[in-house]
Amino acid sequence: MKILLLGSGAREHALAKALARSAQQPEIFCFATTYNPGLMELAAGYHVGDPCSRQEVLQMAQKWRTTMALIGPEAPLESGVADYLANHQIPTIGPTKALAQIETSKAFARNLLKKYKIPGSPEYRVFTGLDGAQDYLKYLGNNNFVIKANGLAGGKGVKVAGDHLHSLTDAYQYCVELDKKGQSFLIEEKLLGQEFSLLCFTDGYSTLPMPLVQDHKRAFVGNKGPNTGGMGSYTAANHRLPFLSNDDIRAALQINELTIQALMEEVGERYQGVIYGGFMATKDGIRLIEFNARFGDPEALNLLAILESDFLELCQSIIIGKLKPALVKFAPLATVCKYAVPEGYPDQPAKNQVIDLSAVKRPEQLYIAGLHKMDNKLFTTASRAAAVVGKAKSIPQAEKMAEEEINRIKGRLFHREDIGKNDLIQACIRQMQALRQIKTTTAAGEPL
Ligand code: AMP
Ligand code: GLY
Repeated sequence: MKILLLGSGAREHALAKALARSAQQPEIFCFATTYNPGLMELAAGYHVGDPCSRQEVLQMAQKWRTTMALIGPEAPLESGVADYLANHQIPTIGPTKALAQIETSKAFARNLLKKYKIPGSPEYRVFTGLDGAQDYLKYLGNNNFVIKANGLAGGKGVKVAGDHLHSLTDAYQYCVELDKKGQSFLIEEKLLGQEFSLLCFTDGYSTLPMPLVQDHKRAFVGNKGPNTGGMGSYTAANHRLPFLSNDDIRAALQINELTIQALMEEVGERYQGVIYGGFMATKDGIRLIEFNARFGDPEALNLLAILESDFLELCQSIIIGKLKPALVKFAPLATVCKYAVPEGYPDQPAKNQVIDLSAVKRPEQLYIAGLHKMDNKLFTTASRAAAVVGKAKSIPQAEKMAEEEINRIKGRLFHREDIGKNDLIQACIRQMQALRQIKTTTAAGEPL
């Protein structure tokens, strides 16, 4: 079995490691954007190019004689790489261009939910010009809006009142900025609560959940500082999150399931891959923030670390439309993932600094992201450097493992010591209880 893997971050390193564990012993060929030394070690072939160029990707797939493809990032999905490969007899894990609109157009996603009466959206409006924008901002009220560029923006298209926009003038100015670039945009009601990720595998017939994950986007301890690609994440041994009720979990899963059905009906194609709902638990229940049409980064690192079933067999079952629960088995373990990032990241990252991984004790739990190798030495880039995943019976044990391991990575780096720690998790639980005005401790009393 020869598999084409698109992308070259820590997520793809985790995907490659999961594939490499398969009993079928596949050969992995990587179409990358950077030289990732971790992936290069695992790959039978490695090519750096433009993963959005359908011809270039197909050319390499044919040269390597790969019989299946797995797409990591969103940009190639938007370019229709999955459609193109499938049309050339290379079945692909990752939705077609039309189906990927669930991620690539926020207006498409919100309008789909509205059309098919799927619950979970905040109040919103789509704007293709400035007409009515000021009135809608005023209607939502100061400090109560979020403005989003409609298309993919690498996580940088969203501005939130209070965090990034400090007045109606600021807000309107951002609308003008987007409009000048010819971008349509959404204005929506600002939601308050705890964010979490629910990823499901789907072959279009069955949509099966993975354990719930909480990511941490802010750069600094205490959820302070600028937004990043994600500084780390955790899952619990019972595959739930300590601040969510059964009803919350059911509601999130239902939104993912209904959306896959609605999306396929709307587009007339079958979805093959991962649907990732980014949710917010609020005082009024579960709300949808956005969908992604792929594995999350860092979520994939937590999830694949405890995937017990054969990942290749799982992918093959998705392709033939025979996905079933027995193929989606996760170990009852907690995981904590932490990213080591260059000093100054994300605004002024210390690039080209030497990194030493030689003290790492569990290389199987190390994932390389943005590091490059020269003269047998590793150097930082402007991106997150590497991640470690601790897995154990409880979140505190997994956190301890991750913390010990990340401290063995030497160089001008920093990480968030608080991710997965009891204090931070209890603060989430308290926030949800305060929002919902729950007086007795329920979830807070349970072991992590
Ligand atoms: P998105 O790209 O849609 O995931 O948005 C990026 C981030 O902006 C999310 O992870 C949230 O932290 C925040 N965000 C997006 N939409 C909302 C909303 N309606 N209310 C509050 N925060 C939001
Ligand atoms: N965890 C955020 C993302 O993958 O988009």
